[in-house]
Amino acid sequence: MEFRMIPPGQHVLPPLPYSYDALEPVLGQETLRIHHDKHHKSYVDGLNNAEINLVEARENGDYNLIKYWENELAFNGSGHILHSIYWTIMAPLGAARQVGVQTLNQINMYFGSFQKFKDQFISASDKVEGSGWGVLSWQPTWNRLEILQAGKHQNLTQWSGIPILVCDVWEHAYYLNYQNKRRDYIEAWWDLIDWQEVERRLLYAMKGQVPLTREKEKAYNQSVRSFHPHLG
Ligand SMILES: [Fe+2]
Repeated sequence: MEFRMIPPGQHVLPPLPYSYDALEPVLGQETLRIHHDKHHKSYVDGLNNAEINLVEARENGDYNLIKYWENELAFNGSGHILHSIYWTIMAPLGAARQVGVQTLNQINMYFGSFQKFKDQFISASDKVEGSGWGVLSWQPTWNRLEILQAGKHQNLTQWSGIPILVCDVWEHAYYLNYQNKRRDYIEAWWDLIDWQEVERRLLYAMKGQVPLTREKEKAYNQSVRSFHPHLG
């Protein structure tokens, strides 16, 4: 389980939870291979590098490059987290993907209807300025969901929000398959969403937790019990 302290520089690239060609024809295997093995890995490496350099800065008391490394922490750390979530909330076409009870309930309560939520999410993702993400967040401060855009990986967030459904709209996510037709990608991508995983993430988020990988139901139950032993 990932609910443990990760020492500086010890982040690892989580494996894809399916094969490179599992999301075809919506996303081709070349897109997934480059996106996961090159782009996501570079964020993990960049995050580790920033953390190690900040360990050295603390040891030497040398903060001349603090602005640079703090920016690297935010950019690469957010990139690593969002990509990890992105892989988990997709599944091959045809897999069962009924929207979870709690997810549907929270969506209806705040957005008015599932269709309104879908329209806003797709429009928000489509209209991200430059590179970024469409994000559905659990906002524990408001005790409800919210849709946000992320500029690059780390800008335009609402502090304390916990992403549970994310759509990568950097060109590297779709260009080989959709060229500049971002909205076509998002609308096709919609059919890949694994709503059972979104539901699991919502339940985690409501407890303040953000897993980086998928777990079997058994592992989920064990982790919940280890954090809430009174649940038995
Ligand atoms: Fe990406």
